[in-house]
Amino acid sequence: MAGVSDLAFRLLARECGADVTITEFTAAAALTREDAYSWMKLETDPREVPFIPQIFGSDVDEMAHCTRLLQERADLIDLNFGCPAPKVTRHCAGAALMGEPDLLLAMVRACLAESEVPVTVKMRLGTGASVNNVVALAQELEAVGVARLCVHGRTLKQRYAGSADWETIRMVVEAVSIPVVANGDVVCAESARACLEATGAAGLMIGRGAIGRPHVFHEIKRDLGWTDVQAPWEEVIPAGADAHERSRSVRLWCWRRYVELDDEVHPEQGSKNRKRHAFSFTKGLRGGKALRGSLHSLRDSAELGQAVERFLAGESDAIHA
Ligand SMILES: Cc1cc2nc3c(=O)[nH]c(=O)nc-3n(C[C@H](O)[C@H](O)[C@H](O)COP(=O)(O)O)c2cc1C
Repeated sequence: MAGVSDLAFRLLARECGADVTITEFTAAAALTREDAYSWMKLETDPREVPFIPQIFGSDVDEMAHCTRLLQERADLIDLNFGCPAPKVTRHCAGAALMGEPDLLLAMVRACLAESEVPVTVKMRLGTGASVNNVVALAQELEAVGVARLCVHGRTLKQRYAGSADWETIRMVVEAVSIPVVANGDVVCAESARACLEATGAAGLMIGRGAIGRPHVFHEIKRDLGWTDVQAPWEEVIPAGADAHERSRSVRLWCWRRYVELDDEVHPEQGSKNRKRHAFSFTKGLRGGKALRGSLHSLRDSAELGQAVERFLAGESDAIHA
């Protein structure tokens, strides 16, 4: 996710139980002109296996060129046809390409022709301007050689409004033989189970439910009986903790680990996302709003890390830091 899934956060998500992580979407146009900031979004680490960069664009040749440039480093390449942001769709990229299925397919074919690693696709149900075309498109994508599909159960027009339509994702699952990952509105074990039952999907993608809550991956696996491994944060939860203290302790473990990983991979100054994560990791906790007010003025990433840590550790002075 843009502004969220930096390398340290992806490594943390893995430690918290995510089987697969994907970089934030990155513009093929910027990558092909060797824009250093865009290449930073595609940094990885030996611990991130498979490494899956996600790219987007509106130009077939640029996307193919970019796919070629990624061959050395990627284990898989994911193509984004799901982004609804006007700054992307106005150039006929992201989810807007679902309204141009011939162009979308030409782009995918061109990327496949350049790729020795599997190519996967993330898409929505359609643009919402006419009948949803995700099922027909999924079949064509399978036919041209796409290895896996991820379907977010909303249209471009909906952006993030309304509920994800898991029934249409089921239609995709039934229409193709390649694995389909269901996406949209999975935030806990209950919604994960419901989504798997409704869609019959091969896997789930969790977006917003993991922002500030990377432990959601372990919790889902634990509550669905997929793992009996003890979560690393169990050790820091005080005996007799109530639900709020428990939640704060889990966040404390996750936050410390995020900062540790970020310091490791960005020893100079930390990820530019650190403040955003600081806000997310303190959401929904008592006193969190006051803390967030005080974080605005902090410029130094180490100071930010410590202020959030003190708050999550229950030291009230962090609120006035
Ligand atoms: C802040 C933010 C950034 C996102 N960035 C990306 C992205 O870079 N690539 C992508 O495929 N989806 C991106 N998404 C969409 C999510 O991956 C996901 O499809 C959508 O949020 C629905 O799933 P959810 O209900 O689990 O959040 C983003 C969503 C949010 C909220």
